[in-house]
Amino acid sequence: MFKIKNHAVKESFKTAYITEQNYQELYQESINNPDAFWAEQAKVHLHWFSPWEKVYQGDFAQGDVAWFVGGKLNVTYNCIDRHLPTKANQTAIIWEADEPGQSLIITYQMLHDHVCRMANVLKEQGVKKGDRVCIYMPMIPEAAYAMLACARIGAIHSVVFGGFSPESLKERILDADCSVVITADEGVRGGKFIPLKQNTDAALEHCPDVHSVIVIKRNGGNIAWKAGRDIWYHELAAKVASSCPPETMDAEDPLFILYTSGSTGKPKGVLHTTGGYLLQATMSFKYIFDYQPGEVYWCTADVGWVTGHSYIIYGPLANGATTLMFEGVPTYPTPARCWEVVDKHNVNIFYTAPTAIRALMAQGREFVSNTSRKSLRLLGTVGEPINPEAWEWYYHVVGDGRCPIVDTWWQTETGAILISPFPGASTLKPGSATKPFFGVKPALVDNNGQLVEGPGSGNLVITGSWPSQIRTVYGNHQRMLDTYFSTYPGYYFTGDGARRDEDGDYWITGRVDDVLNVSGHRMGTAEVESALVLHDAVAEAAVVGYPHEIKGQGIYAFISPMHDIEPSPQLEAELRSFVTKEIGPIAKPDILHWTPALPKTRSGKIMRRILRKIACNEFDSLGDTTTLADPSVMETLIKNRQT
Ligand code: WT7
Repeated sequence: MFKIKNHAVKESFKTAYITEQNYQELYQESINNPDAFWAEQAKVHLHWFSPWEKVYQGDFAQGDVAWFVGGKLNVTYNCIDRHLPTKANQTAIIWEADEPGQSLIITYQMLHDHVCRMANVLKEQGVKKGDRVCIYMPMIPEAAYAMLACARIGAIHSVVFGGFSPESLKERILDADCSVVITADEGVRGGKFIPLKQNTDAALEHCPDVHSVIVIKRNGGNIAWKAGRDIWYHELAAKVASSCPPETMDAEDPLFILYTSGSTGKPKGVLHTTGGYLLQATMSFKYIFDYQPGEVYWCTADVGWVTGHSYIIYGPLANGATTLMFEGVPTYPTPARCWEVVDKHNVNIFYTAPTAIRALMAQGREFVSNTSRKSLRLLGTVGEPINPEAWEWYYHVVGDGRCPIVDTWWQTETGAILISPFPGASTLKPGSATKPFFGVKPALVDNNGQLVEGPGSGNLVITGSWPSQIRTVYGNHQRMLDTYFSTYPGYYFTGDGARRDEDGDYWITGRVDDVLNVSGHRMGTAEVESALVLHDAVAEAAVVGYPHEIKGQGIYAFISPMHDIEPSPQLEAELRSFVTKEIGPIAKPDILHWTPALPKTRSGKIMRRILRKIACNEFDSLGDTTTLADPSVMETLIKNRQT
């Protein structure tokens, strides 16, 4: 086992913004005097066209929280215009293509011009403040321009991850009632082409309200064209002005909708607003990554996830940072790619997911050790609990024992990081997200909602609002209240379990609800089940997670077939591609377990607790099985546990 030279690491961050000395003081102030604290931060970090009347109002019971009430600002003014006097020629975005050897530099001036052009194109298509625009794009600079162009004119973007199927895209377009889709002809990832325009065409067969599809030419592939609806972006962009005044937005005007999975029903459209979201994304980026002017920062996420929103686009650009956007995957053309990109662009701060670290770790350390990585100063992780082995490898092999790791806990709904070490202040512990960010009050409650004091374990809740909090579930406010604010009244319920140690540090242990985390992708078991039962051969399906060496969690599906169906390898392959078609490749089951019956209570409820134990190979702790309608089901299930 390696020893962490934590002291030496902290020493190298002596001049960090947040140090051991000021963390306690600032945190206490943020808790004791939140209005004054946040007002000060909002003034320091953002440019406001006009000030707010009230810092905070509302409560969890109604779910009507509002921050910086009456304040006016524009996100793109903060992310672009205000930097122009000093940073017009500084790099805003470094784009690294899927194919090594291809990259682009976009300065703040260029970013301004691109964003304004796209904003003008949107305006020409009739897009107005408050309209919803769907963005279904590969990781190319135009994805950033598209998001910012919406923010420029006050349209609400809804980015849908390019790996989602036409079916998933359709659902999201309809739910948010989008009138315009921005996409590309094809995406390029790991040397493969992704038919984004073709997927969009399929989705739009059922979306009559989409009147324009703006297509970016990425790859030049052959695509179908619907006259009167489809528009080549480059043709229109050439004809519009490269300036566009930023719309004046209220702090509580919506900025974006982003869909995420829960334990029940369809994905929810998490809605974030302008002022509070931007403030917390900006502040957390600066302080947690200790971003210093001139540094190159790289987050490997996709803009289709919240990490891409807050920590590729909004947080870095609001700080005038240089943010790297990578089109490809960490293993293409070889598992050395990330470190080669780090060396090529002199990346100082690198932020990725534990699943990527584990995948690269499995390929051996030569891919890392043949690169220099001397520019690296700080490492970060996000998305799932990091196992100590992966943490140690990241720290010692990738970071050469020089770079602190910030293990950042947050969610789509929290908008920004809520629990994380500060590199210059915290004592790092492999696997612990350590302490709350300013103004954040985490707590643990038992299953009866009683607070757990001191060291212990429980359900992770947040006991008061924070600026980048979810405001509503788009089109269904009650669903937000039911999901987050009714399980433990008075608290925001995260859906995660956690442990708090003697030092008050938090260790997130994973979801306590029916939500899976597969390779850092969040997915409801119910979504995968619904896809499976759509297939004619499937009578019933129950999906649970099980520990997976690389993905963190794998998808284990128990399936009972229709009475006349014989399971076969062909049928299994068909089911897997069926789920891929319904949701996307990330939802493809790893294990299919055929069973004539699922374990049910006498009232007909599937006993998922037991299925989880079987999938996890925990046969001796099955718990109470006496309520099972047919106890013999159990033995057969255990006997047939699939690997
Ligand atoms: C869920 C949220 C927010 C960015 C990406 C995921 C898990 C996230 C950590 C971490 C342990 C983590 C939680 C959370 N999670 N970060 N550092 N340690 N677990 O966003 O898709 O909304 O998923 O990801 O289970 O609830 P998301």
